[in-house]
Amino acid sequence: MSYQIAPDYDVVGVGFGPSNLALAIALDDCRRQQRVSCRSLFVERQPSFKWHGGMLLPGSNMQISFLKDLVSLRDPTSPFTFINYLHKSGRLLDFTNCKTFYPSRIEFNDYLRWVADQFSAMVNYGETVVAVEPVMAGQSVVALRVVTQTGTGEALSRIARNLVVAVGGVPHVPPVLKPIAGDRRVVHTSGYLGSPLITELHGQAPRVAVIGGGQSAAEVTLDLSERFPDAHIDLVFRGHALKPSDSSPFVNEIFNPEYTDYFHSREDAQRASIIRSFRNTNYAVVDPDLLDQLYRLTYQQRVAGERKLVLHPRSEIVGAGVTRDGITIELHNRDEDVLSRASYDAVVIATGYERSPVPAFLDPISRYIEAGALDRDYRLQTVPGFRPQVYLQGCSETSHGLSDTLLSVLPMRAQEITASLVATADRPRGQEHDPHMEERVYS
Ligand SMILES: Cc1cc2nc3c(=O)[nH]c(=O)nc-3n(C[C@H](O)[C@H](O)[C@H](O)COP(=O)(O)OP(=O)(O)OC[C@H]3O[C@@H](n4cnc5c(N)ncnc54)[C@H](O)[C@@H]3O)c2cc1C
Ligand SMILES: NC(=O)c1ccc[n+]([C@@H]2O[C@H](COP(=O)([O-])OP(=O)(O)OC[C@H]3O[C@@H](n4cnc5c(N)ncnc54)[C@H](OP(=O)(O)O)[C@@H]3O)[C@@H](O)[C@H]2O)c1
Repeated sequence: MSYQIAPDYDVVGVGFGPSNLALAIALDDCRRQQRVSCRSLFVERQPSFKWHGGMLLPGSNMQISFLKDLVSLRDPTSPFTFINYLHKSGRLLDFTNCKTFYPSRIEFNDYLRWVADQFSAMVNYGETVVAVEPVMAGQSVVALRVVTQTGTGEALSRIARNLVVAVGGVPHVPPVLKPIAGDRRVVHTSGYLGSPLITELHGQAPRVAVIGGGQSAAEVTLDLSERFPDAHIDLVFRGHALKPSDSSPFVNEIFNPEYTDYFHSREDAQRASIIRSFRNTNYAVVDPDLLDQLYRLTYQQRVAGERKLVLHPRSEIVGAGVTRDGITIELHNRDEDVLSRASYDAVVIATGYERSPVPAFLDPISRYIEAGALDRDYRLQTVPGFRPQVYLQGCSETSHGLSDTLLSVLPMRAQEITASLVATADRPRGQEHDPHMEERVYS
């Protein structure tokens, strides 16, 4: 018996953030340099490109050198470097005069958008991937049906040979905060800018709580105190003090691409221990310059005799609810075993992000996925007879290391995935793809 399956695309990318942007560049390089082209489509749920738009705060800077852009570490001669972006924008010299490796997040977002615009023909914005289903030929899975939903609720589907998932994290809201999470006066940092909180917080000395002790909490706290100089802000966190992120040079080598090889080759227990010992490079820590800014702010307030920003260390939230007074938070100071309660006009949840090892829209193919970590080339291990390749970017911190959720290894990871796609493709290397080719499957 013979089946004819004509996939619409060789590869569909889910999400069009920095990870899949880097992949788009690597696939383009592959087309130009190796004359192997992949029919690619990227599906992005946002209506247009934006990099963590809710946190594009004025004054916030990159936490990584601009040389770790989408491509420079792999190919500094690429037209998609941050330096070429500056050149094309007429700001190369002026940027140089800024004497920094750390552009503002607003400028880096503009760089990423500039790259994204150059690939716009292969991106469908405003579509969310809701399911990925198997396409069968006899006993084999020969392709994937990628089902999406548009902003107007329309369902669309496309057939893909392979899939590269890069959907980032989802806001983490601790269970104790769930009762208040839907209130319009409560926002997670991921949606901070553009939330009603920003436009509606007014009146005499509004009371605001920021919950968390990481970079997002610190940035929002500073932004709130600049935006609403009269506001009383309580910064509530569980640790003993706000702590600096470690970006010192020897430590920073764990974000080098070759460290991924070392990390991936370790046993599970050793990997977990490495992540624990370097957690302070990334999680629940604050950029040292920002810590200095916050400290000076609280100190100046003490000098002026008006303490508007108050830090609440060692504070566990044990209750949260909506009352006539506003949003009420109950705190337990663990060290002193003291309970307290306060009401706020607004609450910002800065408790970070969650990443599932395998996103839920892959559930329909879950029975073909073998348990265990991703392969070194970011490929899901699947059962025999499952022919599509499924790659995950940003889901494998436990197997590939702390760089996995960051920008550090994007150029190399994109190239590794591209090389793997090409190597596993059902066609001779170096041969141009025939857009009218039909895949023949026999069982
Ligand atoms: C505020 C903030 C600042 C940061 N700054 C830095 C930094 O300076 N340096 C650094 O190294 N890292 C930083 N990070 C870490 C961050 O994870 C990376 O910078 C980067 O965003 C990872 O890119 P990504 O493409 O994997 O994920 P994301 O940037 O999260 O992109 C994922 C994309 O997938 C889309 N998507 C999600 N689900 C679907 C779906 N079902 N269907 C279609 N599309 C979907 C999303 O809309 C999004 O556009 C920061 C993180 C935050 C939150
Ligand atoms: N300018 C920038 O480049 C920039 C800006 C913002 C964010 N980022 C990046 O984005 C990533 C996430 O940073 P983030 O600050 O959003 O998250 P994060 O680093 O994961 O910090 C989350 C904070 O929330 C606290 N928390 C978690 N669960 C809690 C609970 N149940 N109750 C009370 N507190 C809880 C954590 O405290 P515990 O330690 O006690 O668990 C921690 O202090 C990082 O990579 C960061 O570098 C970058």
